[in-house]
Amino acid sequence: MTALSPVLKQATPITVDHGEGCYLYATDGRRYLDFTAGIGVTSTGHCHPRVVEAAQQQIASVIHAQYTTVMHKPLLALTERLGDVLPAGLDSVFFSNSGSEAIEAALRLVRQATGRPNVVVFHGGFHGRTVAAATMTTSGTRFSAGFSPLMAGVHVAPFPTAYRYGWTEEQATDFALRELDYLLTTLTSPAETAAFFVEPVLGEGGYIPGNTRFFQGLRERADRHGILLVFDEIQTGFGRTGKFFGHQHFDVRPDIITIAKGLASGFPLSGIAASRELMAKAWPGSQGGTYGGNAVACAAALATIDVIESEGLVDNAAERGRQLLAGARERATKAVGDVRGLGLLVGTEFTTPTGEPDTATAATAQRLAHEKGLLLLTCGAYSNVVRMIPPLIVTADQVDEALAIWSSVLDEL
Ligand SMILES: Cc1ncc(COP(=O)(O)O)c(C=O)c1O
Repeated sequence: MTALSPVLKQATPITVDHGEGCYLYATDGRRYLDFTAGIGVTSTGHCHPRVVEAAQQQIASVIHAQYTTVMHKPLLALTERLGDVLPAGLDSVFFSNSGSEAIEAALRLVRQATGRPNVVVFHGGFHGRTVAAATMTTSGTRFSAGFSPLMAGVHVAPFPTAYRYGWTEEQATDFALRELDYLLTTLTSPAETAAFFVEPVLGEGGYIPGNTRFFQGLRERADRHGILLVFDEIQTGFGRTGKFFGHQHFDVRPDIITIAKGLASGFPLSGIAASRELMAKAWPGSQGGTYGGNAVACAAALATIDVIESEGLVDNAAERGRQLLAGARERATKAVGDVRGLGLLVGTEFTTPTGEPDTATAATAQRLAHEKGLLLLTCGAYSNVVRMIPPLIVTADQVDEALAIWSSVLDEL
């Protein structure tokens, strides 16, 4: 009999039968309030009727019209539709399947466009699990250990993680920008640096929002040295943070963004967006893939964007995010060192009485939550942050329901 490889780990022992809106239903009939949203993917909720209908219609028409062989209508329509939501100036897109692939596509583009070999990433960032993306990932050695040699040409600068350093945001930002300048003087010359890759909010790294001065500092240095600024919007895009893209909180212009997750409500679809001028510097034919821009996934993405807009999900993410963050802060007990987030990305960091990361308590909290009917995940280098990422359709009552369960979890710890 075949078995699943033990390499695959699961946060819960649940087997899902079906999903609907913010709820997952297990094969034993139990209902769970899903505040994981498939790691920030099912933003329109599970099986949104309009997404289901669009996908079903497309399946009956054509499933796979391979995009380096022929073009298909959903991909052309999605390309045009993205123009309504992408940041100004990013008017050219390339599609792939996973977030990691989008990161690789962005990496290939920045190297080809600049002719420079190196990139700078920011400590605590998560960009994926393929070799290049894992090399660029510094949110935990678990994503790259046992996998060396990794890719050359990746340098790591600090992210302004004020809480971890025990500094103010201002101090952490001064430090991060100063160290970036030092890195550009001592490790990778600007003339050899193609791009900065950064998440607007560290996701896997612990739900840590960046700040305006930091990102503007990156922009200023990028402009000064001809370096490209890539925002990894894979987790923060499509309304998740209460703006359509996470970087839009920080008054900063990206050269490239990577997109995935919330783009297609659960169908595997990712991509990069850049200006036509920059995209034209990619070597023709150097990007592609068998499944990229799948017709059903593109149809689902079109429906997803319609739902996000017509149901006001970006504003809902902002409002429900404020409710969730305030509620999680109010409920924080002595076991909690910090509660932070942006929009519907809310993290509760568990620490010991001496302020050390408390992995065991976070794991217990996550387990107790699912036993009580609330699905949550952990994140952070020490897996000591419990994160809440509900679908963007979440209601005020569902946030209250989750917070009530969370209170009883914290009481029981
Ligand atoms: C910010 C960010 N970048 C990249 C990725 C990698 O995406 P994937 O798992 O689809 O390869 C993720 C996945 O969690 C992510 O959150």
